[in-house]
Amino acid sequence: MTQTLSNKTALITGGTSGIGYAAAEAMLAEGARVIITGQNGDRVREAAARLGANVIGLVAPSQDASALTRLADDVRARFGGLDILFANAGVTWPAPLGQIDADQAAQQLAINVTGPLLTVQALRPVLNTGASVFFTTSNLDRLGMPGMAVYSASKAALRSVARTLAAELKDAGIRVNTIAPGPVETPIYSKLGMSEAELNEMASGVVANVPLGRFGKPEEIAGAAVFLASDASSFMLGEEITIDGGWSTL
Ligand SMILES: NC(=O)c1ccc[n+]([C@@H]2O[C@H](COP(=O)([O-])OP(=O)(O)OC[C@H]3O[C@@H](n4cnc5c(N)ncnc54)[C@H](OP(=O)(O)O)[C@@H]3O)[C@@H](O)[C@H]2O)c1
Repeated sequence: MTQTLSNKTALITGGTSGIGYAAAEAMLAEGARVIITGQNGDRVREAAARLGANVIGLVAPSQDASALTRLADDVRARFGGLDILFANAGVTWPAPLGQIDADQAAQQLAINVTGPLLTVQALRPVLNTGASVFFTTSNLDRLGMPGMAVYSASKAALRSVARTLAAELKDAGIRVNTIAPGPVETPIYSKLGMSEAELNEMASGVVANVPLGRFGKPEEIAGAAVFLASDASSFMLGEEITIDGGWSTL
């Protein structure tokens, strides 16, 4: 069977779990060489080992400009350049009005907006002509959900960043797009500091909004990542693929 990403080198930020990990598995299956990053050394090493031989894991907190420069140097030294950059790393820290902490809001924006932007800036010199760059936004970049003001604003800002970078990079033959998932079963929810009962209540509230009546699975996002990574998406520019079980459409 033909592999759509043969001879391509991909870098996936936030590739240690969830959507990034599933995208790494899917790109490997399509013949790519894959680099995953994360912020935690143990998790990066463990995920890279689990993904197998065609993967390397590098630690690079996405809001740390000097770590990103080192990442670009490493990519150049090992692979020469990148064909695919999936800037996917992000956090979700809900807080309703009255509970928004200024430092935490600034940190969430730094990780979810400035981080991916700095990632593309640092890696721009190693992006090959014809490279595909894409971000993970969220369907909340256009929906109003209580408690999600900072997170949703971060994803709306990232959606905007993608449009600007698409315009800036198109003449260099580099395409920029985004994937906007709805709720997807990943470890992101276990990082919210909620009890199991609170998590279950939140999950039921979320599912009530989804016409397909369930959370998505990371593999159901990974297919879109392979599509954007491949030449099959060659006429897509500055666009967003929404995968949210119909939430923002029906
Ligand atoms: N799950 C959903 O329902 C959903 C919906 C819409 C959008 N998204 C977006 O999808 C993306 C992936 O999330 P996920 O659900 O797959 O969650 P996840 O399993 O928690 O994965 C998040 C990944 O991002 C990495 N990461 C977090 N902060 C980082 C930082 N400062 N620097 C570098 N890496 C960092 C984590 O690495 P470590 O292991 O090292 O911490 C991990 O690999 C995020 O941008 C999220 O906002 C998720």
